Amino acid sequence: MIKQTILFDGRYAHYHLYYANAKAEPGSVMTTFPYHRVKGRKGSGQISATTYTVAKGSLPFWVDHLNHHQVQHTGIQERFGEKFVRFSHPAGLEYEVLEDPQDKREGWTTPEIGKEVSVKGFHGVVMSVRETAETKRFFIDALGFQDAGVDGNYHRLQLGKGGAARTIILVHEPERMSGSWIFGEGTVHHVALNVPDDEALAQQKANYEELGYTDCSEIKDRQYFHSIYCRCPGGILVECAATVAGGFAVDESYNELGTHLLLPPWFEDRRQEIEAMLEPITVPETNWPAKATPPGVQPSHRTAEFVPADKAATR
Ligand SMILES: [Fe+2]
Repeated sequence: MIKQTILFDGRYAHYHLYYANAKAEPGSVMTTFPYHRVKGRKGSGQISATTYTVAKGSLPFWVDHLNHHQVQHTGIQERFGEKFVRFSHPAGLEYEVLEDPQDKREGWTTPEIGKEVSVKGFHGVVMSVRETAETKRFFIDALGFQDAGVDGNYHRLQLGKGGAARTIILVHEPERMSGSWIFGEGTVHHVALNVPDDEALAQQKANYEELGYTDCSEIKDRQYFHSIYCRCPGGILVECAATVAGGFAVDESYNELGTHLLLPPWFEDRRQEIEAMLEPITVPETNWPAKATPPGVQPSHRTAEFVPADKAATR
């Protein structure tokens, strides 16, 4: 976990928790709004699975690991010649681990998950759509993806050469009832694509509008990045985000990422009220590498301090 903050929209405080790979790189950051009061409905027009990359040959480990923790999974499947296992989070979210020998990013490790089998970051997402044509047009014309083939009811879109963090899979499910668009337990609210800077973000908003996708949001300040949101024709909400200088290390040092509840300056005066709305959570054990500043995180204004692993374990 690399950040504890709150959802910036709405009247009530909800956690917004961020998780990432060993270097907290863009293309690996999963965020959750734990929403146990409201259940989402799964269906089409929604992201049906989030796919992470693992090294070639590591799926037997993942099958054993999921069995050991009694997590429901599909066993080893294949799509576009790539092997993957799909599994379900207890809240209902669907994840996949997919073998990609090209992905050299450094995964997060735990006492049970060693480096050679660790999760390196996103490979992509699987989006359920009732029709594929207009969703393809959106990703190709507005966002620069290429059509990268069909395998059964799966349609692949990719940026450049494709592969990790550059792939979207559409699953064509013409009879599937629409899923919910609300924030709700067990469903994915949106996918975010990384753009280089604020200028690229403004350009992307202009691209959408020029093509006729005039329902793009205004540019929102998300503290660690600036974002726009536009719903694609298939129903999935697509964010584009430009990381601010400092990124996730803008308000806490790299070695402390995820260990404190952080609020943006415009919520700081309501901290007491906000904290009262949240149930305390246990921060997972952390074990950041010594004095490493990863490429995805520029040095913060604070001095990064290495916390020895024994202290880190007690956070
Ligand atoms: Fe987002």
